[in-house]
Formats: sequence, C-alpha cells, structure tokens
Amino acid sequence: MRAAHPVAYPALGLLRAPARRVPGLGVLVRDAALLRATLMDTEHFSKTGPGAPSDLWTPVLGPAVLLNMEGADHLALRRKLGPLFAPAYVDQLVAASLPAAQLNARLVAGERVDLVAEAKRNASIMISQLVGLDSAQVDEDLFDRVGAITRFVRLSRPRLSDAQVRVARGILDELTAHARTAYRAGDEATVPGRMRALGLGEDEAMGAVGAFVLTGTETLVSYVPRLVALLIDSGWMPRLAHDPELIEPAIAEGLRVTTPSPVMLRSVVADATVGAVPVRAGDRVILATFLANGAAGAFDPEANPAASLKQLWFGAGTHFCLGAPLAMAQVRVTLRALLAAGPLEIVARRAARGVLIPSYARLELGRLSSPQGVSKPGPA
Ligand code: HEM
Repeated sequence: MRAAHPVAYPALGLLRAPARRVPGLGVLVRDAALLRATLMDTEHFSKTGPGAPSDLWTPVLGPAVLLNMEGADHLALRRKLGPLFAPAYVDQLVAASLPAAQLNARLVAGERVDLVAEAKRNASIMISQLVGLDSAQVDEDLFDRVGAITRFVRLSRPRLSDAQVRVARGILDELTAHARTAYRAGDEATVPGRMRALGLGEDEAMGAVGAFVLTGTETLVSYVPRLVALLIDSGWMPRLAHDPELIEPAIAEGLRVTTPSPVMLRSVVADATVGAVPVRAGDRVILATFLANGAAGAFDPEANPAASLKQLWFGAGTHFCLGAPLAMAQVRVTLRALLAAGPLEIVARRAARGVLIPSYARLELGRLSSPQGVSKPGPA
C-alpha cells in the first residue's frame, strides 16, 4: 500500500476519529458501522454529485453506468444485469476461460511463474469475454491499457482533466467497438450478445461493459497475488492445502486485510451528520474501507474476524459489488490451482508504484524444493 500511495495512506491512517473533516479532501470515515450506515443512507449520500464517482466517470463512460446512478433507474439496470452474475453463469464462464490447469501444470513441472503476469493474462481473458473479443485476439497489454485509465485517479483530484478524459475515452471506445459488434450479432455465447437477450439497449450494454472493465480488472490483478503472498508469508498455504474448509475464510480474510477497492466516495445530497461531523449538501465523503477493515485485526482465517464485516470490501446496500460472484469464482479457481501444485515459495517480488490500487508488479512463485511440515500458522 505504501508503494502505491507513500504519503496519502499513512497520513489517513493517522486520523483516529471515526469521522473527521480533512481540509481539501472531504469528510473521512474510518469506522465500519458508520461507513455501512453511510452506504445504506441513499437519502443523504449519493454516487452522483460533487466529488462523487459521477464526477470522475460520467465524462468517460456516459451518464448511466450503475456506478454513477441512483434511484429507480439504477435499480432497473441492476435487475437487468443480474443474470450475468448469477453464480451458475459466472462459474461456468470462469471454468471455461481461465487456464488454471496450465498454471498448475507449469508449477508442477518446476517452472517459475509470475503470478502478476498470470493475473493480468486472466484479466485480459475476462475483458475479452466481457467485450466479446475472440480469446485468440487477447493480448497482454489489454490490461495495461485499462490500468492507464485508473492511474489518472487521485483522492485529491475529484475530476479527470479534459486531456485525461480524451485518452480514457479513446481506450474504452476501442474496447467497446468489439462489444458493439458482438451485441449487434446477438450471439448469446458472448456477454454483449447475452446482454441484448436480457433486454439491455445498445448504449446501456456498452456503458455496462465499460463499467465492468474499469471496476473488475485491476481489483483482481491486485488481489490474487496479494492473497497468495499473504498466505505464503504467514505460513497458511500448506494448512489450506490440508484443510480446504479454511479456503473460504482465507479468501474473505485476504479481502478484508488487503481491501482491493480501498476507498468509496459519496456526495452529500441533503444536510446530515456523519458520526459527530455535520455535513452539508455538496460535501464529499471519503469512506476509507481499508482502515475500517484493517481495524478488525491481523489476517487470521481461523478466527475469521472478516465474518463480522458482511463483506464490506465489496461495499453495502444498493451499490454492493455486482461482480462479486465473478471475482470470487476467479479467486477460487486460481487459488485451488496453486494449492494443488504443492508447497510453493516466493522466489522474487516487487511492489507496483504509481498505481491506484496497491498491487505487486511482480510475484514470482516456484515449488518449494524442500517442503517443510505443516505447522500451525500464527496471525500475519
Ligand atoms: C476483488 C475484486 C473486487 C472488489 C474488491 C470490488 C469492490 C467493489 C466495491 C467496494 C464496490 C462498491 C463501490 C461503492 O459503493 O462505491 C463495487 C461495485 C461494483 N463492482 Fe466490484 N469489486 C471487485 C471485482 C469486480 C468485478 C470482477 C466486476 C465485474 C466485472 C465488478 C463490477 C462492479 C460493478 C459493476 C460495480 C458497481 C455496482 C453499482 O454501482 O451498482 N467488480 N465493487
């Protein structure tokens, strides 16, 4: 986290109050209960308005892409998109598209694997599915082009500049060009074709594709390597291999302590209070999920403090992460392939700098040459 945000994150962590006004930024919330209450209160807090995600994304994605909508229109679009993220559909999509067996085979054969490159390739494959590209056309820099957009975002910068908007639109237009073709062809084997069958208009479908690409790629490329590093560093990896019931709590705990979507933004639409802090219409609220989640303690799949947080890392209320089943399916498939490869060690690692979402730039894994016995790990 420090490599990505050397100044902002440590500074925010120093604020101890559950909610506090920070000059130049907005009202920072770090208490889990207060954060959830703000997310659930759509009468006073909105994703549209000054300082909210709409300010960032509407110029790039258009006005109606879930993450910049509220009210009845938002609900109606979510309902239409719901079947795309039904567990049965995403499990089959992930199983059919991610090369988990290859990942396993390469490690078993003694090859060293950079899990970040692997996660990027998987993200590119998923993007290609979402935009209706043939997987043969997937290239590895698809992910980097998407990362170039989110790299423009800073907490201190509520809007993108005109030049940044032009670059971002250019990248997304290129991606959605494929999606438009797939949508028009109406082939239900592709996600855009399926969106058409679900009753989405062409513009709605293209907006949704853009939103999926922006929200669902970097989060996973950040999370999968961070989870695995956490499991190996803390000694939990061999324990999970022997006790698969701990896999789900370990994934939840990993999401809690890494919080791949570290903050959420809201704009105040009607005067209210956040904890003890009075807020006025037009104020910006920064929900520091990473601080709220981190306060529940150290990584520990057995004690599983994550269970009390009701998946706060995916948000809460009407904007709860739509892609959560897809994210979970991808994490499970990759983690199981790694666990089945036998004891692993980290051969090399490097943190990414200048990125929005804290990540590794490289996490090279190999099979442990002289496996140690399974010992009971302690909290990380
Ligand atoms: C570990 C991976 C992920 C994490 C931690 C994550 C986290 C989040 C969070 C916290 C929100 C709520 C934001 C808010 O209320 O302001 C959200 C919304 C959303 N996520 Fe995810 N996400 C992940 C992966 C994905 C994936 C894979 C997709 C789809 C391809 C996706 C699609 C969405 C969409 C469309 C929304 C907006 C929902 C709405 O506004 O109604 N996410 N995500």
